[in-house]
Amino acid sequence: MAKASKNIFFCQNCGYESSKWMGQCPGCREWNTFVEEPLPQKTAARAGKPQRQKDMAVPVTIREIDLKEDTRKTSRMEELDRVLGGGIVQGSLVLVGGDPGIGKSTLLLQVCRNLAGDGVEVLYISGEESLRQIKLRALRIGSFEDTLSLLCETNLENIREIIERRKPSVVVIDSIQTMFHEEISSAPGSVSQVRESTNVLMQLAKGLGVTIFIVGHVTKEGNVAGPRVLEHMVDTVLYFEGDRHASYRILRAVKNRFGSTNEIGVFEMQESGLQEVKNPSEFMLNGRPENASGSVVTCSMEGTRPILVELQALVCQSSFGIPRRTSVGTDFNRVNLLMAVLEKKAGVHLAQSDAYVNIAGGLRMTEPAIDLGIALAVVSSYRDIVIPDTVMAFGEIGLSGEVRAVSMPGQRVLEARKLGFDTVILPEVCRQAVKELSGIRLIYVGSVREAIKAISEIKK
Ligand code: TYD
Ligand code: MG
Repeated sequence: MAKASKNIFFCQNCGYESSKWMGQCPGCREWNTFVEEPLPQKTAARAGKPQRQKDMAVPVTIREIDLKEDTRKTSRMEELDRVLGGGIVQGSLVLVGGDPGIGKSTLLLQVCRNLAGDGVEVLYISGEESLRQIKLRALRIGSFEDTLSLLCETNLENIREIIERRKPSVVVIDSIQTMFHEEISSAPGSVSQVRESTNVLMQLAKGLGVTIFIVGHVTKEGNVAGPRVLEHMVDTVLYFEGDRHASYRILRAVKNRFGSTNEIGVFEMQESGLQEVKNPSEFMLNGRPENASGSVVTCSMEGTRPILVELQALVCQSSFGIPRRTSVGTDFNRVNLLMAVLEKKAGVHLAQSDAYVNIAGGLRMTEPAIDLGIALAVVSSYRDIVIPDTVMAFGEIGLSGEVRAVSMPGQRVLEARKLGFDTVILPEVCRQAVKELSGIRLIYVGSVREAIKAISEIKK
């Protein structure tokens, strides 16, 4: 006897399956995330497609695997290529997530334009915008080649057929939440639809060697909407983020099977689309105040690239019993910890002071190397000492007030010299690693106390 069609409950957050509704997901501990969806029907036809059996995979040895010469293509955008680990890998599945309006469609349309310009067959499939809308956007970006084809489609079976017929090299799916598979009866954007759609796309990418970019929307919490399994299925997960009020955008790899995940790409949204920012430090240091206390420049490594930022602190007398501390762009607990170290190990009495710490430009940085910058900015504001704007400081601070080593000190110093800084305050323990450089003064410090002494002396 045929069973009546069954329903199953999915966690919208992590994709956990359950036969009954639950208040809290045992998988990710989120509350109230279960929704009822029909059980995906696996038909016999799909399970055993005849052509699948014919080209069944045979085990091979490592030596037999042929690495074709150009398995990576350049997108003609250095910033994107770097985040991808050196170019677009053939047959890879790349998920691009980000808030609405951040520029995902714009970025991918520009990539399509560049690839098409190199003679690569590109297919851009949109389920969100009409062809007219895409054309309007394309007109802002620039001229397009005929190797780029556009399609408005949301049915995955049709998409599969078109890809199999036309065999493009690169496909963009904008966005996965609008795609649906006929065999699954739940609405587009639901867990089973997103999962099944990605599955189909993965088979296409691996089977035909097509590179597929998938756009994914993010939820309020900042995760790609739909199940976490989506992130497990794809090869690369990129997040496109940025401050709504600032024009720059940062592309970050969260997962990459073909490269490192530390690299970032910096773009600026302009009237004619996204422009690459080749020198982010210069960009971030724009509009720095002159002769203001509470401001110091520090350096954080983003992957292999040093980025200089301005750290600002404002310390003032607290009017309540409990002082107020706020930080924007850095870890709040780290700021509290550094202030406790300053109090206890450097004799800076901050217990009765409010403190506000900010990374100018809206960038978010978590590397401990900016510790010394935070500490000096706080002291500079508290004692009203102006740190000259040609001084840069970096170093991690330990709980006993020692300034500890950080990675790649030499590159940070070089970046500072390149941008015209004349003094760098850095950890004593990095002396070996940094070679003597002409044209820049290096002040090595072993503790926060020494660093504070150094800035008071620079002033004189
Ligand atoms: P879009 O790529 O549509 O974002 P997403 O696909 O991530 O939702 O980006 C749209 C925003 O970018 C919109 O606010 C307008 C702006 N924009 C520009 O400033 N200049 C441009 O040349 C383009 C195409 C868009
Ligand atoms: Mg879009």
